[in-house]
Amino acid sequence: MTDRKKLLRALDGETQKVPPIWMMRQAGRYLPEYRATRAQAGDFLSLCYNSELAAEVTLQPIRRYGFDAAILFADILLIPDALGADLWFVTGEGPRLSTITDMAGFNALKPADAMHDHLAPVYETVRILSRELPSETALIGFAGAPWTVATYMIAGRGTPDQGPAHKLMTEAPEVFDALMDRLTEATIAYLSMQIEAGAETVKIFDSWAGSLKGEAFTKYALEPTKKIIAALKAKHPGVPIIAFPREAGDGYIGFAKATGADCVALDNSVSAAWAAEHVQVDGCVQGNLASSHMVTGGQALIDETREIVQAFANGPHIFNLGHGITPDADPENVQLMIDTVRAQ
Ligand code: CP3
Repeated sequence: MTDRKKLLRALDGETQKVPPIWMMRQAGRYLPEYRATRAQAGDFLSLCYNSELAAEVTLQPIRRYGFDAAILFADILLIPDALGADLWFVTGEGPRLSTITDMAGFNALKPADAMHDHLAPVYETVRILSRELPSETALIGFAGAPWTVATYMIAGRGTPDQGPAHKLMTEAPEVFDALMDRLTEATIAYLSMQIEAGAETVKIFDSWAGSLKGEAFTKYALEPTKKIIAALKAKHPGVPIIAFPREAGDGYIGFAKATGADCVALDNSVSAAWAAEHVQVDGCVQGNLASSHMVTGGQALIDETREIVQAFANGPHIFNLGHGITPDADPENVQLMIDTVRAQ
C-alpha cells in the first residue's frame, strides 16, 4: 500500500483492481443539498464566485458518496467573463454572452494577465478545498479548451453544431486565430494558478471537439491542447493532465501521445472494448458510462458498469460517466454505480 491517492496512481499509469471513481457534474442539480446552497448563493454565477459556498458544493458529493476525487466547482465560461465578455445564465436554457464577430470585438477583450483579480475567488476556492478535503481525495482543477470556449464567445450561447464559430474560422481567420491564441494563453495562466493554489491534476474540457474534422481537429483541438500541456509541464512537471476531446471518435487514437496528456477522457459514443484496444494502449483512460443510466438505473446500469470496468481492467482506468450527470438523475443510481464499481 502507498499513501499516494488512488486517482493520482491511475494517472501515474498504475493498473488497479478497483478503479478510482468520480463523476462529471457531481456537484449539481440532481442533489437537493446543491439546490439549497445554490438558492442561498442567489444564482449560478454568484455561487461560482463565492469561495465558501463553491467549496461547500464541491464537498457535498464527497460527503455523500466518498468519491476518489473532487472537481473544483466553477465553469469553463469564467475565463470569457474574466476577459471582459458579458456573461449571464438564463434558467432552464443555459449561458448567454456578448458575441465576438470582428477584430473590434476581439480588441475589446482584456489581456490574459489582467484576469486574475476577477478569478481570485476561484483560486481561493481551490485553497479552501485543499485544506478541507479528506486526505485520500484528489483535487481536480479544470478549464475549457480554447475551441470549446471560443464557440460560446463567438455565438454568444451554446449552439447545436457550433456553426457561428466554424463560419468565423473560414470567413475571418485572423479574428478566429487571435481569439484562439488569447484563450490558449489565458488557459495556461488560469490552470497554472489553480495548480499553485492546490489542484493536484487539471482537466481540459473540449466538449465540442467532435465538430472539428480532419485538419481542423489537429489545428484547433489537438494543437492548442498540446501547447497548454507543454507550458504547464514546463512549470509544474509532476502534475498530471487529463484531456477530454469529447466525441473525437478516431481522433482519440494517439491523442495522449500527440498532446502529452497523462489521461484521455472518453465520451460514451465509443465502446469501452474499442477504447481499451486503441486508446488505453497509450496510458490511462477515463470514462465512460452513459449518463442516462443515472436516470434509469436498474440491471442495465449494473451490467454496463461491469462491462466498462472489465473492458479497462488490464490497464490504468478512472471510472466516470461519458458526460455530465443530468438534473433529472436519481441520487440512488449514483450509489448503485459506485457500489458496482467497488464490488469488483
Ligand atoms: O463537473 C463538475 O461538477 C465541476 C463543475 C463544472 C460545471 N461546468 C458546473 C456547472 C464543470 C467542469 C463545468 C464545465 C462546463 N461548463 C462545460 C464542459 C463540460 C460539458 O458539460 O460539456 C461546458 C460546456 C460548460 C458551460 C455551461 N455551464 C453550460 C452549457 C451550462 C448550462 C447547461 C446546464 O447544465 O444547465 C452551464 C451551467 C453549469 N455549469 C451548471 C453546473 C453545475 C448548472 C447550473 C445551475 O446550477 O443552474
